[in-house]
Amino acid sequence: MSQTRGLEGVVATTSSVSSIIDDVLTYQGYHIDDLANYSSFEEVVFLLWNGKLPNKTELETFSNELVANMSVPNEIFNDMKAYPIAEVHPMAALRTAVSQLGLYDQEADEVTEDAAKRIALRLQAKIATIVTGFARIRNGKEPIKPKDNLGFAANFLYMLNGEEPKDVAVDAVNKALVLHADHELNASTFTARVCVATLSDFYSGITAAIGALKGPLHGGANERVMAMLSEIGEVDQVDDYIQGLFDKKEKIMGFGHRVYKNGDPRAKHLRDMSKKLTGIAGESKWYDMSVAVEEKVTNDKGLLPNVDFYSASVYHSLGIDHDLFTPIFAVSRTAGWNAHILEQYADNRLIRPRAEYVGPDTQKYIPLDERS
Ligand code: ACO
Repeated sequence: MSQTRGLEGVVATTSSVSSIIDDVLTYQGYHIDDLANYSSFEEVVFLLWNGKLPNKTELETFSNELVANMSVPNEIFNDMKAYPIAEVHPMAALRTAVSQLGLYDQEADEVTEDAAKRIALRLQAKIATIVTGFARIRNGKEPIKPKDNLGFAANFLYMLNGEEPKDVAVDAVNKALVLHADHELNASTFTARVCVATLSDFYSGITAAIGALKGPLHGGANERVMAMLSEIGEVDQVDDYIQGLFDKKEKIMGFGHRVYKNGDPRAKHLRDMSKKLTGIAGESKWYDMSVAVEEKVTNDKGLLPNVDFYSASVYHSLGIDHDLFTPIFAVSRTAGWNAHILEQYADNRLIRPRAEYVGPDTQKYIPLDERS
């Protein structure tokens, strides 16, 4: 039996949701650059779930349905207030709340196509409310209901901050959501598919996926990029700091990728946004520092930035708490997780690979009282 460490290069399923071929990322055949430049997040979610871009009427109906489904049972917010809130990471809160959300969905155990699509919609809508609600509750504030006249990105910022956001912030969050929405068989998506391939329910799949996204080798990297930049502090400290990480053989967060070897096509969009937004915020140093880190890491190690690297300074310049960076990733990636779960249910077979046994040879059993 042969095995591939970390399943590198293993093609584990077919999928029509998104593809990475020769370092080009497409969602349902549409180039990520076109979607990032011209589409709303709602359009992209519709695309990922239905295999086609919506027309105007379909988009309006779908967008309205999303806002109409954003409310979350009060019990979930009440329970959040009882969490040991000062120590709870928002990703742990999100994982718990999404699992809890399933308790209040009467259709939760339905795996028919129609029910699954309704559940996907509810989850996509409510996850934004959970992330923003938790962010407010831990600051002693009440969660805010969405506004009917705002789109998904605008409502996210509105529910987070309690005031209608500026267009520049809405555009930035919208683009970030589009860029993170799906990414073929990444670790969290694979996790979701493995979970629901047992014919377990949607909420279990998304809860499992959130757990996988939380780790620093996956979505958790964006928060750690900001921690690194904060620790570096100034552009002239970059080289020494990064050299120190090289010397300690530590990973540089936000660099490297299992699939992309010539660069992550999403990174350039986030780099441009970082330049613009840090400039508007009067804090260009975060962009300048990021560029200096990129130069050092790329020149010395040949590693290129991934989606997480410049998203850190983008979110920071929007005034978003650093530990909310990964939850925002989860809000976006729920679109992709949902699409993959729908695809898995539509043509399901249990996912059950093998392991190459490397343990001891057959051993003679010794009863407990005879063991030394
Ligand atoms: N910093 C320093 N060295 C690195 C980095 C990095 N960020 N990434 C890879 N390397 C080195 C490894 O040390 C290893 O070197 P070696 O062969 O001398 O031991 C070699 O490159 C291969 O690295 P692996 O970790 O085996 O690559 P893998 O494909 O398993 O991992 C991963 C990919 C997890 C993204 C890795 O590059 C990494 O840990 N990056 C930092 C964390 C990060 O940014 N994660 C977000 C990824 S994007 C996303 O999930 C949304």
